[in-house]
Amino acid sequence: MCGIVGYTGPREAYPVILKGLKRLEYRGYDSAGVALLNSGLKVYKKKGKVADLEESLIGKDVHANIGIGHTRWATHGEPNDRNAHPHLSASGRLSMIHNGIIENYALIKKELLSKGYAFKSDTDTEVLLNFIDEIQQHNDCSLEEAVRVALKRVVGAYCILLIDKEDPHTIIAARKGSPLVIGIGKGEHFLASDATPIIEYTKEVVYVNDYELAIVRPDELILKNLGNEKITPYITKLDMDLAAIEKGGYEHFMLKEIFEQPKTIYDCLRGRLDVANGTITMAGVENYMEQLKNAPRIIIIACGTSWHAGLVAEYVIEDLCRIPVEVEYASEFRYRNPVVNKGDVIIAISQSGETADTLVAIEKAKEQGAIIFGVVNAVGSSIARASHAGAYTHSGPEIGVASTKAFTGQLAVLNMIALKIAKVKGTISDERYHNLLAELEAVPEKVEAILENADAVKAIAEKYKDSSDALFLGRGYNFPVALEGALKLKEISYIHAEGYPAAEMKHGPIALVTETLPVVFVATKDSYHEKVVSNMQEIKARRGKVISIITEGDNISPTLSDDVFVVPPADEVIAPMLSVIPLQLLSYYAGTAKGYNVDMPRNLAKSVTVE
Ligand code: M6R
Repeated sequence: MCGIVGYTGPREAYPVILKGLKRLEYRGYDSAGVALLNSGLKVYKKKGKVADLEESLIGKDVHANIGIGHTRWATHGEPNDRNAHPHLSASGRLSMIHNGIIENYALIKKELLSKGYAFKSDTDTEVLLNFIDEIQQHNDCSLEEAVRVALKRVVGAYCILLIDKEDPHTIIAARKGSPLVIGIGKGEHFLASDATPIIEYTKEVVYVNDYELAIVRPDELILKNLGNEKITPYITKLDMDLAAIEKGGYEHFMLKEIFEQPKTIYDCLRGRLDVANGTITMAGVENYMEQLKNAPRIIIIACGTSWHAGLVAEYVIEDLCRIPVEVEYASEFRYRNPVVNKGDVIIAISQSGETADTLVAIEKAKEQGAIIFGVVNAVGSSIARASHAGAYTHSGPEIGVASTKAFTGQLAVLNMIALKIAKVKGTISDERYHNLLAELEAVPEKVEAILENADAVKAIAEKYKDSSDALFLGRGYNFPVALEGALKLKEISYIHAEGYPAAEMKHGPIALVTETLPVVFVATKDSYHEKVVSNMQEIKARRGKVISIITEGDNISPTLSDDVFVVPPADEVIAPMLSVIPLQLLSYYAGTAKGYNVDMPRNLAKSVTVE
């Protein structure tokens, strides 16, 4: 949540920051602002998108070689100009941007009020800023020292960037729980929440860790811990190109990312899956194979779409590996008192690798001695680094708020993990193992075939776009896909949608069925198919509108459906990687038909770094 950018060096800072904010807008988009330091400290901020800020600054003096910028997802205080970042300290000397939540801000605010401080905003950020300001004024110390002292008292999560009117070259940055990447240029430095604003200037970056503080000048980067000890920055080379973070001719990132799936799934399998030799190479799994194959239980923790991938994995791992699996919402796991037994393995799934709930759940499981295996998309992210081992999904940057290509990447990785364990454990027959390897290899081509028919989904979406509600039903492997279809539709088209196991419908949701309710069946040919067809009949008998996702050659489902979309045949283990594609398209086309900004849906942000 919230995107932050900073620059110090010889370039004009404003265009660098503005471009960076546009790239980070997926992280929050209810207001934006910049603080620029030239002969004086200028702070400009505006409710709305980065483009609104840009427009408001036409003709203004934005000349500076150092600055910080922010795009916000509101936590404390409604989205308006006043609560937008950057904030200016009471002394007028400091400006700060912040991503995260300061949990003990109320107490600190009370202390500051008693010392005569007044506040212009409702934010926790302004409280932390004035706390730093007060420490600096009171102790007549450097900003770096004041930040260090303040952060020792702070409870919560933060990534902060500060500039000081008295020091026109330095940005002070610190993080705990919210990401920060520093790009190293020639005589210049770039700071951002992720690498996308940095990539066009340099490929050399440093990922700042929790409890680290950075002193950043054009030609100097000093990293310290909160005990004031220097840390050697670990420089990583970014493996990402600019094209990956641009729309490339598509109207929206979401559509681009849906259409990228043949390639992203291929990239995920490439170098790992060798059908001819019957092998899967995954170093992370191999290094922990003993623990994985002997695990008394696997606990999967994730949120949102990643949680749905975890549910599919539950079916796959239990089916192929005969290991009991539990799938938990990270937000629940972190706060209850979960039983983690010796030998249990945690699989943490996350696209961004920065989801606060998942990250904290990992720490909690670690405290109980669990091994953490991360299935993550964002390379170098906090969850990737917090895991003992893992496998990247290699889906490339996912920018649209709706998770699409990351989901199929997660399924590809989880399927490979399950197949590898099953092979070593001997819980899968040779024939099934080799068949599934070949089936996996064929997925990119099948996804391509589905996407060639995208217009058919568009027609369905346009027909039902004005519905107020929708039901998504599926059984077995397709039950999590139904949940995912419902999540996609609500977040992108704002149509209220529920996902249910098809059989569970008769225990309640069937009461909702009327002549106008679209009921989407994820009904590809699998071992549950006949049962699903019976459920379809139950809806049809009540005159519900049936839309079904079916397998080529299924002659029965069309007779019970108002609309059908056909996908190529696949083993039931693999089928979710295909059946989800039309559902992604359905939400995209419903959202765009209603004129919504599908890349930045209402109230959402891509990376949920607050709990
Ligand atoms: O980055 P993560 O995979 O950890 O994110 C988890 C959820 O926040 C995410 O999947 C969210 O539900 C998406 N908006 C779904 O499209």
